[in-house]
Amino acid sequence: MSKSVPVIAVDGPSGVGKGTLCQALANHFKWHLLDSGAIYRVLALSALQQNIALNDVTQLAQLALNLPLAFDSHGCDVKVLLNHVDVTKEIRTEQTGGAASKIAAINSVRTALLQRQRDFRQAPGLIADGRDMGSVVFSDAPVKIFLDASAHSRAERRMKQLQDKQNHVKFAKILQEITARDERDRNRTVAPLKPAIDALIIDTTSLSIQDVFNQSIKYINEKLAL
Ligand code: DC
Repeated sequence: MSKSVPVIAVDGPSGVGKGTLCQALANHFKWHLLDSGAIYRVLALSALQQNIALNDVTQLAQLALNLPLAFDSHGCDVKVLLNHVDVTKEIRTEQTGGAASKIAAINSVRTALLQRQRDFRQAPGLIADGRDMGSVVFSDAPVKIFLDASAHSRAERRMKQLQDKQNHVKFAKILQEITARDERDRNRTVAPLKPAIDALIIDTTSLSIQDVFNQSIKYINEKLAL
């Protein structure tokens, strides 16, 4: 990893549209993409598969250090592999997301995953998607963006995504899951979800994906003097 390689750090709560923005930015600049949430999700899945308790700090940190995880990308199509098995769909369930949020609160787990995330910093540049990309992992990133939106609007977007996939879930349940995850991610003592002091905050509640992309590109071009 080279500190001279530019990083665009994009942080924010779940369901705020970070993934969509980061993918669009990675396509636009033709830079590498780090989905750090996927790493926490794979770790959680691996722990669930091995019946490791989600509060077993020692075993989880050990697992994090030796996690057999790989990203297999072909253009926009990225497969997430655990032990060479494709777990791309499995890690997206609400159960895995909830478990990821629990183990992400453990300090030694976060420390164990630091270098793995920093290794993604490769030329020509990196778009880093997560909760602490700008505040901890790439605190020297020249561009930091923090997306926010009301829990209600994030739950509405999630509901629509699920309906599009023919999944029928109650709105109240989605809202409750999003609120619980926010609560944990924002209030943990280690690397809590909060904007870095030098981050641009964009409230996406009433913005379209295109609006968020345009605002971000304008800001990035200014910051990187492109
Ligand atoms: O972005 P996501 O929903 O895929 O992330 C899943 C969980 O992982 C999230 O609830 C908190 C945790 N996480 C984290 O603590 N730090 C990150 N940089 C990314 C994710």
